[in-house]
Amino acid sequence: MAGLRLLLAVGALLPPILGQGLEEFFDASGDIVRGTAPETRLYWQSHLTTSRERILQAADLADGTRIVTVLGAGLGMEIPLAELARRFERLILVDLDGRSMLQSLRQVPTELRARVDLKVMDVTSFAGPLIEQIEQAVEMSSTSEEAFERFGVILDGLRAGDPPSLPKSDLVVSSLLLSEIPRYPFSYAAQAAEARFGVTLQTWDRSDQFFRRLVELSIEDHVELLAELVSPGGVVYFSDTIARGLADRPRAEAIRRAVEARAAPDLIGLGIADSAAGVTSAVNALCRAKHSPATEAEAFERLLAQFREADGRFFEPLLPIGELGDQCSKRGLELRGDPESWWWLAYPCKVLREAGAFLVSSWMLELRN
Ligand SMILES: C[S@@+](CC[C@H](N)C(=O)[O-])C[C@H]1O[C@@H](n2cnc3c(N)ncnc32)[C@H](O)[C@@H]1O
Repeated sequence: MAGLRLLLAVGALLPPILGQGLEEFFDASGDIVRGTAPETRLYWQSHLTTSRERILQAADLADGTRIVTVLGAGLGMEIPLAELARRFERLILVDLDGRSMLQSLRQVPTELRARVDLKVMDVTSFAGPLIEQIEQAVEMSSTSEEAFERFGVILDGLRAGDPPSLPKSDLVVSSLLLSEIPRYPFSYAAQAAEARFGVTLQTWDRSDQFFRRLVELSIEDHVELLAELVSPGGVVYFSDTIARGLADRPRAEAIRRAVEARAAPDLIGLGIADSAAGVTSAVNALCRAKHSPATEAEAFERLLAQFREADGRFFEPLLPIGELGDQCSKRGLELRGDPESWWWLAYPCKVLREAGAFLVSSWMLELRN
């Protein structure tokens, strides 16, 4: 890894909770993605390809080619890292999960790696300190009631601080990150309460309020960072999972036949079913290696589109788009071109039984003149 600068920007590691520090906690979360079965990943291809193409379109729109910064880079699966390293003088990857970023470097040809900076750091102004506060609250408490009271004080005082310091960038990429930001401190609190007191966080009567406040704060904090980071004439590529489904599964079963009837011509066209009468059994036979993952992915996408058309309640919203739009205009970030949406079949073989699919939306943003 010649020339690679591994910048450990986190500073002093947080004292361990459950034997973990901040980076270890993010590393352990990254294990889940790193451990995804290869057969599942085969279904991700259309999402990865679309995402990579959109990011390169955003790169085409940027005035300069000096710095590209990828926030929440993780494994960089949906990021065209090699092409970005080719096009820009410097590629900065930022994430608290250093191990995933090191793995992502395999995408970049050896001769271009000197252009890459890995920054193991918090992309927010609040998540790291908040996790530290949660840890202290749990350690100082002898009952869950006491801990929840302390969590309440933390919740009431939650504020954004100064955005992390990163260089101005011609292209800023934030892909599938924002909706994840609130989940990390929230699940840290949940794990700590469970490990120390054997109770779920839901037994705290303010847990929903806590999560909603984290979402609100994450949007405000992240949009400020995006507006701060992008150079004049630069572009922000922003994408996220805005909904997941199927959410209303008991009703889904009742509606399924109508959805399949409407999707029948598409499924016959794809060679999944022979006739309208055979659609249900053909759909039940998906994920049994009878067809290629690409064909099955298309079949799932058509079914999901039909469910979405039948009733939006089959999809649980993950990001308040209105709030995001408001924060962007407040910070002077304007939409460039049309947003685009597509499906990411994260857990394809569970799509009809659990929330296995995510609706991704992407925007290109620039600073208002
Ligand atoms: C869904 S993954 C992003 C996927 C990634 N863009 C890719 O192409 O594979 C979300 C990433 O955000 C990172 N993350 C979440 N909260 C963070 C924070 N406060 N600071 C730094 N990274 C964070 C996680 O470690 C994880 O790698």
